Amino acid sequence: MYKIAVAGTGYVGLVAGVCFAEVGHEVTCVDIDEEKVKLMKSGVSPIYEADLEELMKKNYVAGRIDYTTDYRSAYKEADAIFIGVGTPEQADGSANLSYIAKVARQIAESVEKDCIVVVKSTVPIGTNDKVEQYIRDFLVHDVKVEVASNPEFLAQGTAVHDTLHAERIVIGTESKWAEDVLMKLYEPFHLPMVSVTRRSAEMIKYASNDFLALKISYMNDIANLCELVGADIEDVAKGMSYDDRIGSKFLKAGIGYGGSCFPKDTKALENVARQHGYDLKTVKAAIDINKEQKTKLYEKASKRLMTFAGLKVAVLGLTFKPGTDDLREAASLENVPLLLEQGADIYAYDPVGADSFATLYPEGEHGKGRITYVSHAEDALKEANVCFIFTEWEEVKQIAPKQYDTFMRTPLVYDGRNIYRLDEMKAAGVEYHSIGRASVK
Ligand code: UDX
Repeated sequence: MYKIAVAGTGYVGLVAGVCFAEVGHEVTCVDIDEEKVKLMKSGVSPIYEADLEELMKKNYVAGRIDYTTDYRSAYKEADAIFIGVGTPEQADGSANLSYIAKVARQIAESVEKDCIVVVKSTVPIGTNDKVEQYIRDFLVHDVKVEVASNPEFLAQGTAVHDTLHAERIVIGTESKWAEDVLMKLYEPFHLPMVSVTRRSAEMIKYASNDFLALKISYMNDIANLCELVGADIEDVAKGMSYDDRIGSKFLKAGIGYGGSCFPKDTKALENVARQHGYDLKTVKAAIDINKEQKTKLYEKASKRLMTFAGLKVAVLGLTFKPGTDDLREAASLENVPLLLEQGADIYAYDPVGADSFATLYPEGEHGKGRITYVSHAEDALKEANVCFIFTEWEEVKQIAPKQYDTFMRTPLVYDGRNIYRLDEMKAAGVEYHSIGRASVK
């Protein structure tokens, strides 16, 4: 078993650390935030993620995982140091690598024995060559350090499961030594391993995420055409899904993709291509379609209603997808400001994300509009003139079609997630607009 240090305790770092401990490695997670470290030591996860707290507690008690702000002690004698810090998007779409650089410098100053530095963060192709050079330039002790790439494919909400049961582990190394260490380190997971060069590993991450983003944008593009030609995107997706070459996943049309990965990674790869003088047309199209898709329903509703001013607007779902409290690039963030600007009186419901949303849009007046947060979906619907569905939470899916008619002043629903069947909404007397399907009146 190996002695592992993990830099950064966000989704990527913390989940990786906990899963390494779970398979028996000795793990120390490093974060700069004292409060966060205290919290994690007491078994509380700073992020909302299924199974995470349970495994944090179990492995902490077993002495396999610890948390610290003292990076020197954590890195000093580690066999492998995983970097899972953020690479946020900058104004020009490129990835901000300052957090990685900072950790690399700390590693260089701390390591006292040969070790592999494994970059899990998503970084532009070629970055790990630079990280390696940077660490070697600043090394204090005479030790061998090699940088490896080990991109992460976990999805939020199922992060622990995705890590323990990953479809593949990709490792990118430049020496037999680094490859062997990583192969052995991952052995207890019993998962398929793909061992390639560092640059190919970096590219696999972007190419995979951007392909999925493209798949969603393609379906949204086709959905928009379906509406115009009188076809139904749900039926179309079903018909496509039987073809193994297409597959049945990620064919769901909706209000556009959000989250921490697809929006960022599409822009980052497009940026890499541009820097190399290459026009990455497919990915550019995915980005453009996604941008327009997010406000599609708002545009439709604006045409249907004379104004939002003074209307009670129910908003169901604020997070970018169910099972997470993450709001990054969520459709709600595009639509709520537009509605407020128009003077809407919003009643928002989200089983998990309301508190984070309220830090951006506190309850009360915002210009001509106002926003109130409610703990039950039906309180949002009561007397509402119009309802927008942005996230397909189970709690939202459980609202029976008839309830829109019962609770709302006018049962007018704009569903960005195609939760309901058209016939059931029609039978319940709801005017229903969704994505890529006929409207029901
Ligand atoms: C994604 C990838 O799935 C993961 O492999 C990668 O490591 C990080 O990015 P995540 O962002 O957590 O994970 O969520 P995911 O479930 O993939 O959904 C992303 C967005 O796409 C959500 O907004 C979701 O609503 C949307 N989506 C997904 C669709 O609109 N249609 C689909 O068919 C699938």
